[in-house]
Amino acid sequence: MPSILAQSIRAAEMAEEDLLSALAWQVDLGADEAIAEHPIDRFAAQEAATSAAGAMPRGPGGSSGAADVARRAQPEMATPRALAEAAPTLDALHQMLAQWDGSELRKGARNCVFADGLPGAHVMIIGEAPGADEDRQGKPFVGRAGQLLDRMLGAIGLDRAAEDPAKAAYIANILPWRPPGNRTPSEQEVALFLPFIERHIALAGPRLLFTIGNTPTKALLATQTGIKRMRGRWRHHPASGLPLLPSFHPAYLLRQPSEKRLSWQDLQALRRALDGETPQIEG
Ligand code: URA
Repeated sequence: MPSILAQSIRAAEMAEEDLLSALAWQVDLGADEAIAEHPIDRFAAQEAATSAAGAMPRGPGGSSGAADVARRAQPEMATPRALAEAAPTLDALHQMLAQWDGSELRKGARNCVFADGLPGAHVMIIGEAPGADEDRQGKPFVGRAGQLLDRMLGAIGLDRAAEDPAKAAYIANILPWRPPGNRTPSEQEVALFLPFIERHIALAGPRLLFTIGNTPTKALLATQTGIKRMRGRWRHHPASGLPLLPSFHPAYLLRQPSEKRLSWQDLQALRRALDGETPQIEG
């Protein structure tokens, strides 16, 4: 019969094994970050936010601005397109997205990552979805890939912090919420948020679109063709009528630095179009 000491050691080992497998299970589900000291009941927080929205004061003429638009456009039957189209300004669209509970992704994310840079900049850059750094800070492209993106933009004289629309960039993603574990968004998730990014483009009013990576390129051009074949060729974005240039995602360039040569060609094509050269649109 094993001694009491041996039994306690075995029990401790079992407990450790159980704990490790419970932890692995949570990581598989996407809970890969320790965020707070205490658990947060997001369902309760959401209910409180909804009742608070119902109690929001109304401004002159019966409207409280963006929050009011978001609240009025919340009927459960409204489609994502109807909701998006109801937003008259970027601010209203941001608030609507932050409050809309049409996607489960919202429950697992910290912040609604809407955009950064200058609305009205001549170029709008569209990525996939926020990662952990972006979720924490509430801004797109602030992690390692974002730092590379800033250097890429700097190489063609653009700066997201610039105040001149010709020198600035406006940056957003297809999804405003971080997918758990930074997984690639599903086709359903992309389709759900497509009307919002289309409205976002219309309200931001860029002259050119620059999509980085597979997800935004496929979503905005309704294509299954991958980025390696799409990059570097100007296309017509059907929803806005704007010229759109697909290129590589900076996270891919961090993994495949040899592809920076092609990315540089794309950046130079973007620079020429910003300088007034008419993009030769294919397809
Ligand atoms: N990758 C993206 O596509 N978007 C971000 O905001 C950050 C990383």
